Amino acid sequence: MLDLQELQARALDELANADSQEALEQWRHAYLGRTGELTLALRSIGQLPAEERPAAGQQANQVRQALTEGFEVRQAAVNEAAMAATLATDALDVRLPGRPQTLGHVHVITQVLRDIYGIFRQMGFSVFQTREVEDDTTNFQLLNMPPDHPARDMWSTFYATTPGVLLRTHTSPGQIHAMRQFYPDPFRVILPGKCYRYEQVTTRSEHMFHQVEGLAIGQNITIADLKGVLEHFARQMFGPERKLRFRASYFPFTEPSAECDVDCSICGGAGCQLCKHSGWLEILGGGMVHPEVLRNGGYDPDVYSGFAFGMGPERLALLKYGINDIRLFYANDLRFLQQFG
Ligand code: PHE
Repeated sequence: MLDLQELQARALDELANADSQEALEQWRHAYLGRTGELTLALRSIGQLPAEERPAAGQQANQVRQALTEGFEVRQAAVNEAAMAATLATDALDVRLPGRPQTLGHVHVITQVLRDIYGIFRQMGFSVFQTREVEDDTTNFQLLNMPPDHPARDMWSTFYATTPGVLLRTHTSPGQIHAMRQFYPDPFRVILPGKCYRYEQVTTRSEHMFHQVEGLAIGQNITIADLKGVLEHFARQMFGPERKLRFRASYFPFTEPSAECDVDCSICGGAGCQLCKHSGWLEILGGGMVHPEVLRNGGYDPDVYSGFAFGMGPERLALLKYGINDIRLFYANDLRFLQQFG
């Protein structure tokens, strides 16, 4: 005689302990599968005497329903527990702080350039942009330096393989471009930008550096105007306590010419490596635009005059911040650059 009561009790007992998908599957196979205990029991009902079959059949159906329902309930519970476990282990903790975006800032030389623009803007100068790749004619010849002129030795030059093409060694060729653009009007501009020199890199000079050229063309412009503009600039840039000195100098494209020094902010004038133990740091060259250069720009030197100067923002930054090595600006060392954030 089949003990269906016993089978149901045992099956439900085992079901209560099935705690994974695999265990559930095994259980289903053992009881409800094609060769499962209950299936076999149901099949064996046919062999019972006819009068016992209806009662046994009814009971077997009840047991099958109990096991099927029990299985579904248990399966739902196991699924839910598995889901909860995955949620707990794979959870995305939204409370974690996000990765901070590091904010950059403009390079210290860009800051100095902007300071320079601001000071010259007060004096009515606008910014004139010109090219970095120049030709020999504009970089040298129209500035009064024919081929083989000894003054060319002041500008060691990166030449391109195309004859006559070079990286500008100074912003002065911009003077020619500006004059030709503004002629016949009077004007004053600054011409900022990168310059290149093929020379030894030291604490004071780099292959690539910036210059800010100044150029004022008009009638009755004198060297007093040049000095006044430069003194105003230096006071705005470095404060009234810095000393300024003008030295007579020579440039082929200005006459007379001068160089302008500021007392060294590293050693306070006592002498150090940066100022070559002179106590002074040269920040610019300048002078009155040479009549030949005026003519090359289209202006009649009998009617017009002008002054020009060229300064080095890297040099100004060394002085302003007391930095002792120009190579730091372009070495891309964040420890250095971030000090100017
Ligand atoms: N171009 C000169 C230099 O690079 C500087 C300069 C500019 C001098 C304008 C006079 C006038 O040294």
